[in-house]
Amino acid sequence: MMLEGSSILLVDDSPETLELLSDCLSLSDCRVMKADTGNKALEMLKRNQVEIAIVDINLPDINGISVLDAIKQHDPTVAVVMITGYPETNFVVNAMKKGASDFLIKPFELDKLMMVMMRVSRERQLLVENKTILDRLEDKKKIELLNRRLQKKIEELTIMFHISNKLNALSIVDDVYEKMVQIVREILEVPSCGYYVADKEKGEMVLLVEKRKSEGLPNAPKMNLSKDFLSKTTLSKGFIQRDDRLYLPLIIKGECIGFMSVGGKQGNGRFSEDEIFLLKLITEKVSSKIENRMLYESLYNSILHTLSSLIIAINRRDSYTEGHCGRVTAMSQMLAEVMALQDYERQTLRIVGPVHDLGKIGIPDAILLKPARLNLEEYAVMKDHSIYGEEIMKGFEILTEEARIIRHHHERFDGQGYPDGLAADEIPLCCRVIAVCDAYDAMTSDRPYKKALTKKDATAEIKKYGGSQFDPDVASSFLSMQEVG
Ligand SMILES: [Fe+2]
Repeated sequence: MMLEGSSILLVDDSPETLELLSDCLSLSDCRVMKADTGNKALEMLKRNQVEIAIVDINLPDINGISVLDAIKQHDPTVAVVMITGYPETNFVVNAMKKGASDFLIKPFELDKLMMVMMRVSRERQLLVENKTILDRLEDKKKIELLNRRLQKKIEELTIMFHISNKLNALSIVDDVYEKMVQIVREILEVPSCGYYVADKEKGEMVLLVEKRKSEGLPNAPKMNLSKDFLSKTTLSKGFIQRDDRLYLPLIIKGECIGFMSVGGKQGNGRFSEDEIFLLKLITEKVSSKIENRMLYESLYNSILHTLSSLIIAINRRDSYTEGHCGRVTAMSQMLAEVMALQDYERQTLRIVGPVHDLGKIGIPDAILLKPARLNLEEYAVMKDHSIYGEEIMKGFEILTEEARIIRHHHERFDGQGYPDGLAADEIPLCCRVIAVCDAYDAMTSDRPYKKALTKKDATAEIKKYGGSQFDPDVASSFLSMQEVG
């Protein structure tokens, strides 16, 4: 195989990741070098021959993109694969511009890693061949051919980026099968594409979605789920050809859940190796998307259930908190809309909004329900609610980010807030959004010890404190929302 004997530089500050990658690549007979900081990686690069580098974006000393930059400057033929936890479009585009060959999204699966490595190594070989020939200034035609092949690889990479992007942009309500069929039609321009669910009990394949180029074409055929469809060979090969159609299994935890079917090609009806490669890539990505979604939904639902019982508990004690949290959630979601925030932030706000004051559960009645303004000592106790809230949320492993948001929901843009006195960009964006909505709702609510401000006066306060208490951008978006509303 192509990877054998390759020199690979691994750059990651997590010893576990380094070990895992190194074990896996050593098994493929690669020569592996490990660095846990960017500077060490650059040192190694000077002293060793490196063909492929795998670089984590988060490093303790220098940022992964700078490492990518330095590697490419040192030797442009080194293929660089970036590791990232959250693939954000800006980052991906930036890294691609700087010459990254591909991305591994944490947590990554080892077969995906191998697929990426094989592709990257193939691409690099093209690049190196191209370069040596250029160096010698030999056969012009060969260079042209190689350039064309290289160009094709770049196109392939762009297509793959497009696929990942489309799939990553899917929200929880989108139909993933519908989207898959649509992506295939867009990329390969096959006349017909459909998705069959495998009903193993009845031995049937049930057509779920289908897209055809024109009405004149025959429908996707009725299919029986014969044994060879589910045979080990088909599942490991990733496709099976029947007549002029190709069937590619979607596999989740070793189980085939259904098949994507493409066909109707003119001519001999055969698919090229490249087309099959792309189709396999799509079904693989869709499978992992579905798997993540299933996992996420079941965890998510049970956690929301637990959280809602906590909310009920606190609402029984303090009816103000109940209405307050509901209003803050609604407002922060509208604000997220106005600010055109990413899905990720919107989802976080949806979860955190209703429970941002959850930690009040740990505040004694005498303080929480006091019908008068709190004195300094009592206020100090009250402040702890953001830390209590964080502690409760931290109990759920998948809510660590949400826990962090709760901890910091009373930070101020100028650094005068609590509990950590974070300022400006150090404060998570969701907290800066909640802070404005939280303050507005508190100002416009009647409390036993103070009368509510009018909406107009409260809005004026938000304007006044934009840039000191509040993030100026969030505050001005809030103001524009008030004008419309
Ligand atoms: Fe609070």
